Amino acid sequence: MNKNKIALALLIPTLAFSLLLIMGCSTQAVPVNQTPTTPTATPTTSPQTQNPTKITVKTPPKISGITMTEVAKHNSESDCWMAINGKVYNVTSYITSHPGGGAILLGCSKDATSLFEGRHSQNAHNILQNYYLDNLK
Ligand code: HEM
Repeated sequence: MNKNKIALALLIPTLAFSLLLIMGCSTQAVPVNQTPTTPTATPTTSPQTQNPTKITVKTPPKISGITMTEVAKHNSESDCWMAINGKVYNVTSYITSHPGGGAILLGCSKDATSLFEGRHSQNAHNILQNYYLDNLK
């Protein structure tokens, strides 16, 4: 009789423990043919929004026109600009070809409209266009 009691006393906790083990395993069990899903952390913000690189292309404003202050800086035989009728010309390379000789130098760094107009042919006007830089600001 005592032997039976001892056996029961040992058997009950063993069974209970085994039951607990089985239950514990079954909750973790993965059905056949089903791949266990590993939880993936969803980032709250994507890397792009975390540190966005803003690319702003700014088109520089078109700089148009040359001031008389700039024209005035070009006042020599080796660097001769002049303004004629609201346009600026760099005539440096024409100086040695000028039919009127060194008289052209009188117009360097100046508004030479009055010097040029009235004494030059249409051909001279056409030649002048080869040296156009920009409009006078
Ligand atoms: C603004 C200052 C200039 C002065 C004071 C000047 C002066 C003269 C002078 C005195 C003559 C000789 C003909 C004449 O007796 O009338 C002449 C001729 C000529 N010049 Fe000028 N010149 C100037 C600028 C230019 C420029 C900038 C050009 C062209 C880029 C030019 C092109 C000519 C040509 C082609 C002739 C031959 C005649 C004709 O086709 O009109 N000159 N210039």
